Amino acid sequence: MASTRFPYAPAPESRAVVNLRPSYGLFVNGEFVEPSDGTMFETVDPSSEEVLAQVTSAGPVDVDRAVTAASRAQQEVWGPMPGKERAKYLYRIARLVQERSRELAVLESLDNGKPIRESRDVDIPLVAAHFFYYAGWADKLSYAGLGPAPRPLGVAGQIVPWNFPLLMAAWKIAPALATGNTCVLKPAETTPLSALLLAEIVQQAELPPGVVNVVTGAGATGAALVEHPGVDKIAFTGSTEVGKAIQRRLAGTKRRLTLELGGKAANIVFEDAAISQAVEGIVNGIFFNQGHVCCAGSRLLVQESVADTVVGALKSRLETLRLGDPLDKNTDIGAINSSRQLDKIRELAGSGDAEGATRWSPECVLPDRGYWFPPTVFTDVAPAHRIAREEIFGPVLSVLTFRTPDEAVAKANNTTYGLSAGVWTEKGSRILWMARQLRAGVVWANTFNRFDPTSPFGGYRESGFGREGGRHGLEAYLDA
Ligand code: NAI
Ligand code: MG
Repeated sequence: MASTRFPYAPAPESRAVVNLRPSYGLFVNGEFVEPSDGTMFETVDPSSEEVLAQVTSAGPVDVDRAVTAASRAQQEVWGPMPGKERAKYLYRIARLVQERSRELAVLESLDNGKPIRESRDVDIPLVAAHFFYYAGWADKLSYAGLGPAPRPLGVAGQIVPWNFPLLMAAWKIAPALATGNTCVLKPAETTPLSALLLAEIVQQAELPPGVVNVVTGAGATGAALVEHPGVDKIAFTGSTEVGKAIQRRLAGTKRRLTLELGGKAANIVFEDAAISQAVEGIVNGIFFNQGHVCCAGSRLLVQESVADTVVGALKSRLETLRLGDPLDKNTDIGAINSSRQLDKIRELAGSGDAEGATRWSPECVLPDRGYWFPPTVFTDVAPAHRIAREEIFGPVLSVLTFRTPDEAVAKANNTTYGLSAGVWTEKGSRILWMARQLRAGVVWANTFNRFDPTSPFGGYRESGFGREGGRHGLEAYLDA
């Protein structure tokens, strides 16, 4: 893309640091084990369709083994252990993640398709930061404002998606361990490898057997975990559809649930905003991680008076993005995670054409193999269009305009979701006013997609409930 402006030589990160095994078992009770009733499936590199490894699809018996191990470890070892001792293990994991960060980053980019620049500079550092942060809480739980002696729930079943495979695992495992719970983690079927490497790190950190278990597989494995009566809490991140099904399943039981689901966030640019800064924020908001981000700024709401300027500057900026090999350190846009997701993006973008919106992409050569979609901007979008309402989960931005702050609020809140929002303006009072009006769990001001383990994250309405991160994130794993 626009390589004429500034030619870049390829700068690929070496794959040699990753030691892929031909096939992987399950991580149960501190060991990698062969499945009892599981089968095997492949995970591929979405940028080349190369098969990376065979992975186990765990069956109900395998899930039961993992839950039994977790339950025993929770009751006998991890629950009774003083918080300051649990903290040492969490610090150990955090340091090992840092030590093995290059390996983790390369593996994540291989299995997921995201640019190495992002896995190296965003995902993996945040993974370590999460473990460091929650390590600090482990011996201070009675001061968390959740009662004088909050108790762990027991076994946490944790189901994570493919967009931030290791980061979502860390968001789930770190607070669960800090609070004395044990875990059975189910990574997504297209991105199981970094969770299996984390299992190795758990071994290396000498966690007591059964404290962390990893069962790979697809929806059926996740469903078996949800069904298991020995699981005291389910933490799920993924699609709203599956989240609703899990909620129905757990309704009326004593088992606890947190859901982090989809989004259709508004990124709102006022006429007084610093335009080039806002353009960077728009790009980061929707093209970071190929737009596979639940809190992506997928609806740009721009004030009419500056709409042409902003869209013009945005298009020029997009001309400079480089799409291609995820392991190349110059790459801005990597591969779409799966052919299924690519189909979904194509279908929704097609609906944008059919409903009368105007599609634009920079000139861009897509590689022959693998799953790719160019960065795309739709203008002339009406609020009723599917591309303005449905989560595309891809590098596709829908641009709408507004005239007044009230109209911006009304349009931003006109969604079934409520996960995040962005506001770009020079006026501090307007930021505070907007933050109060917006029905979103996170509101970023003059920035976007900024994460920190100390800050709670989570949604309203169909974006789910419960918070991850910060002191609030402890609540999801404790009984006051
Ligand atoms: P998904 O919700 O099916 O997958 C998420 C996780 O749930 C995976 O680990 C999957 O194996 C597991 N799962 C699937 N069915 C299950 C069941 N019945 N019981 C328990 N676990 C189950 O999401 P999918 O199909 O990969 O993506 C579809 C759409 O969902 C995307 O296009 C995107 O719009 C949205 N999505 C949102 C995410 C977010 O972070 N909010 C993450 C992933 C997808
Ligand atoms: Mg994969």
